Amino acid sequence: MARHLLTLDSLGRDGIRQTLEIAARIKSRGGMTRDALAGGRVGLLFDKPSTRTRVSFEAAIWGLGMLPIALRSDELQIGRGETIADTARVLSRYLSAFVIRTFEQSRVEELARYATIPIINALTDDHHPCQALADVMTLQEEFKELAGLRLAFVGDGNNVCHSLIQAAGHMGFTLAISTPPGYEPNSEIVAAAQANCRVNGGGIELGHDVRAAVRGADAVYTDVWASMGQEKEREERARVFAGYRVDGALMALAAPRAIFLHCLPAHRGDEVTDEVMDGPQSRVWDEAENRWYTEQALLYLLITGDVDGERLG
Ligand code: CP
Ligand code: NVA
Repeated sequence: MARHLLTLDSLGRDGIRQTLEIAARIKSRGGMTRDALAGGRVGLLFDKPSTRTRVSFEAAIWGLGMLPIALRSDELQIGRGETIADTARVLSRYLSAFVIRTFEQSRVEELARYATIPIINALTDDHHPCQALADVMTLQEEFKELAGLRLAFVGDGNNVCHSLIQAAGHMGFTLAISTPPGYEPNSEIVAAAQANCRVNGGGIELGHDVRAAVRGADAVYTDVWASMGQEKEREERARVFAGYRVDGALMALAAPRAIFLHCLPAHRGDEVTDEVMDGPQSRVWDEAENRWYTEQALLYLLITGDVDGERLG
């Protein structure tokens, strides 16, 4: 099992499968993990807002019997110039794991370089691996087999899209991505996932035609047009992304059994209509709930390395 979760690639195919197996076990018991890691301590640092990630992690940490310690950069010495390396060295002496949501991916990677405890990426500008774990769990619950599935991603090719690309590479499903020109995902992440798809099946398709991406898809996924940190670009993005809204007419092009997914928070009326969010194909609340189980499984596996889940009983 990996030591850190920096991107979804940190886990790889086996790590993702092990996490999902443990998560499903935890879900089948109503989310209870019986204080399996009693006495542990987990730090959480959020440099950006969060509802789901923050609450699901704190609930997961408490459920495992550990103490959650929520931190903010402006309350740490890091805000006054203490280096990331020194912060990582010191926090490793107190904590069992550290969860961080921040801007640059390099900050998370630097923490991991100097920490002797697991570092968990709770979203950066470039990746959102925790989200992809819950997304894959939701797809598996719906379709059982991921092989052969076609997931359409409509919108911005940034953090959430990147983690879904890595998920497709490891789990062998097809991800058909449709972005406005200039908002494509990182080509190195795409190329690495395409190489994984050659081994595991599936593929990564890129394009700008939303209808072509969604036609026949088993699931349709979208994310906000302006991510956290891009607030100043909101108006421009609203213009550029106007043709990338998931509405009932677009969903009608997907397979009859298709489901709708969204990492949330949703900007209703922008990237998705109420009709789709609240419609019968929407699985967004189950997807959000699954964050709680995948986060528990992830903490358990990264802290203990026990892929059999023996301490869970
Ligand atoms: N999906 C997600 O990460 O939500 P939050 O920003 O509320 O944590
Ligand atoms: N792309 C979004 C995801 C939020 C969970 C953002 O970074 O704001």
